[in-house]
Amino acid sequence: MSTDPRDDSTDADQGLSLHHITVRFGGLLALDDVSLRVAPGRIVGIIGPNGAGKTTLFNVICGFVPPQSGTLALDGKPFRPRPHHLNRHGIARTLQGVGQFSGMTVLENVLVGARSRRPETDAWEALERCGVAEHARALPGSLPYAKRKRVELARALAAKPRILMLDEPAGGLDADEIRWLADLIQGAETTVLLVEHHMELVMSVCDEILVLDFGKPIALGSPAEIRTNDQVAEAYLGAAA
Ligand SMILES: Nc1ncnc2c1ncn2[C@@H]1O[C@H](COP(=O)(O)OP(=O)(O)O)[C@@H](O)[C@H]1O
Ligand SMILES: [Mg+2]
Repeated sequence: MSTDPRDDSTDADQGLSLHHITVRFGGLLALDDVSLRVAPGRIVGIIGPNGAGKTTLFNVICGFVPPQSGTLALDGKPFRPRPHHLNRHGIARTLQGVGQFSGMTVLENVLVGARSRRPETDAWEALERCGVAEHARALPGSLPYAKRKRVELARALAAKPRILMLDEPAGGLDADEIRWLADLIQGAETTVLLVEHHMELVMSVCDEILVLDFGKPIALGSPAEIRTNDQVAEAYLGAAA
């Protein structure tokens, strides 16, 4: 806890909080009263069947989608996210799929993410960490899909974010790549928000998991708690039927 008497925030305020977030698209309730606290250093998973509202929740945190009601807070202070200010707040995200600029090299793409006074250093460090430094001068489109996903991760990591948001990073990857990804997430030494369908990955890396179903939060707990939650099983079986 801070010892500065002028600072009335507490450890309990640190990190990102969502309070009663509701999002409607016309008549569709995409998020229905979702609250979540993401403490610093935690790896928090967001799961749920297709259309559950996972990407919408990310879009709210990034300021792409303004909620109809509800508030966000960062370190106990009101937070009104705007996409072009995310870097300043230390938030970086990867997009579902691969989201690179096709006319720029891998290095140039990753430099877009860097924000310190030594962007080249941060970009190269991120490329090394993601094992794609050898492709720095290539165009992303010339690389296989798994490598492009790594470039997307490098772009986010180059920002040295305090909150790293990953939207389905395992999509389309094979078992070896997913193992590599799990190691990267666990070694990221930052707060991670992970939207992912690959249950083994989610269960192995997350400290905590939020389950959405048709926009509603139906469970929040440890991987063990989520694995044995009847409502969660039902939501997934319902989606598969
Ligand atoms: N911009 C939008 N306009 C209208 N409907 C949207 C929009 N974005 C998402 N939706 C709808 O909101 C629901 C939740 O979508 P999404 O957040 O993408 O789900 P998920 O990522 O969990 O698959 C879906 O029914 C989707 O069709
Ligand atoms: Mg999605």
